[in-house]
Amino acid sequence: MTVGSLLAADLVIAVLAAAGWLAGGAASAARRRPLALGLAAFALLATLARAVTITALARAGWWFAAEKVLIAAPLSLAAVVVAGTGLLRRPGDIRSAGLPLLFAGYAVSGGLLVTVLHGYPASPGAGLLAVAGVLAATAVTWRALGARPSRRVSRGAVAVAVAALVAGSGLAVTPDTVPAGAHDHEYREAQFVGEPTRRFTLTAGTATVNVSGREVAAWAFDGQVPGPELTATVGDVLEVTLRNRDIERGVTLHWHGYDVPNGQDGVPGVTQAAVRPGQEFVYRFRADQVGTYWYHTHAVSDVGVRMGLYGVLVVRPGPVGGVDVTVPVHTLAGLPLPPPRTEPVRVGTPVRLRLINTDSTTHRYALAGTAFRVAAIDGSDLEGPTPLTDTALLIPAGGRYDLVFTAPATAVALLVEGRVVWSTGPVAATTDTWPVLDPLTYGTAEPAPWSRFDRDYTLVLDRGLDLRRLLPRYAHTVNGAAGPDIPPQVVRLGDTVRFTIVNRSLVVHPWHLHGHHVLVLSRDGQPTTGSPLWLDSFDVRPGEVWEVAFRADNPGMWANHCHNLPHAEAGMVLHLMYS
Ligand code: C2O
Ligand code: CU
Repeated sequence: MTVGSLLAADLVIAVLAAAGWLAGGAASAARRRPLALGLAAFALLATLARAVTITALARAGWWFAAEKVLIAAPLSLAAVVVAGTGLLRRPGDIRSAGLPLLFAGYAVSGGLLVTVLHGYPASPGAGLLAVAGVLAATAVTWRALGARPSRRVSRGAVAVAVAALVAGSGLAVTPDTVPAGAHDHEYREAQFVGEPTRRFTLTAGTATVNVSGREVAAWAFDGQVPGPELTATVGDVLEVTLRNRDIERGVTLHWHGYDVPNGQDGVPGVTQAAVRPGQEFVYRFRADQVGTYWYHTHAVSDVGVRMGLYGVLVVRPGPVGGVDVTVPVHTLAGLPLPPPRTEPVRVGTPVRLRLINTDSTTHRYALAGTAFRVAAIDGSDLEGPTPLTDTALLIPAGGRYDLVFTAPATAVALLVEGRVVWSTGPVAATTDTWPVLDPLTYGTAEPAPWSRFDRDYTLVLDRGLDLRRLLPRYAHTVNGAAGPDIPPQVVRLGDTVRFTIVNRSLVVHPWHLHGHHVLVLSRDGQPTTGSPLWLDSFDVRPGEVWEVAFRADNPGMWANHCHNLPHAEAGMVLHLMYS
């Protein structure tokens, strides 16, 4: 069982346990003895089963189990003890077991709510709030059931509940860390990078575009989705003038995967102000990384990118022979882009397919009709990539894979989610049963460049209730906080930095650090055995733990976020800051 499915199973079992105790309590109060006993037995089994899932999660990593061990387990223990004594004390009088069973239901629900609403790290505040809630619900029930607790008991319970509530909310609301100046610093001056050798202008505006015969309202660069493909040769100095015609919410250009100087990174409120209608901004940077990249707006990016404000950036090492195709995959108004294209290729021609996933979720790619190699991922060449056949590829949101092959005499087709997007002729192939390539074991290993790290940071990805705003929201969180309240990670120029990224949520988080490529060290404790992988976008699936490292060699204030852009919008953004 993977840790991801353990997390899901644990949640389901906790819900069943809570429901069992509550329903058993209600049945007791209604004097339905056999039903009450049956439900209580079921709830007891579910509660005991949780001991197994919680233990397994704790063994997979403390991050997955902290609040379950520290808060849910003691509450469950109290539930079992109170319900058990309630049932055994006066076995003839089922009604008297109603309150203890309901208490058990509240206690197990309290633990469950701590996991669902608060998560990691387990805080004393959350624990106290849960206890307060359980006691308060029990006191109300006590009254409602018409039992008459002695004054001392009911006063005592109320006092404990109030004290726990006050202490708990005090602890929960006090900001533990104040984000240091993430949002009120001067934008960096553009550095002089030389005279531009490639000049482009991109004008952002609302547009109607045609997608497979349907007119779709979009936001577009130069009226087209995707925007114009920007190409350069390594060593070029790019100058890109961004104009905003009428995108009210503002636009910027972020060069996804391109480690530009900070002032050119295009993050509104961090490296520049958003470009408003009628305004412009000029980006200048040297094209010193070869490979496949993309650009997109970073202003209200979840809406802006989805609506079409993105395009391809390709930097080639020099003149190319053969066929070189970019395939930026996107979903616009529910319709898949790009439209299918067939291009006959002469036998023996070298072909490079540059696959780019510009959506917010993972896509599955399959190349049918030929053996191929994955030459590069996220713009970086792989060491010793071996030929693959009948192997599918999963590309994370924001990620890029370059596939290379020599055109065979027969037709070749590239499929995305089972749909042909590029082909050299008709191909009949079922690709959905193909195994998926694991890039961590592909290619030839090289010794790691670092053995010690100057900084170590852990990012625990989860969901949680965020009350620090006007309207409470169910945020996507990092270490229990949601942006902009996640403390920045501080590094010094020249540091070697290690990140441990833990996903204890039930959804995939495609992680993306700006301004740096990270070297993958391990996943779930297994070191990589394949080619060094220098990534800028990687999927951290539920229950996974990734260790990555990078050299802090690009000073500035850098966004570090989930590239499922609605998740980023819902809080999953923090910053890397140079001291
Ligand atoms: Cu492609 Cu901050 O993003
Ligand atoms: Cu995410």
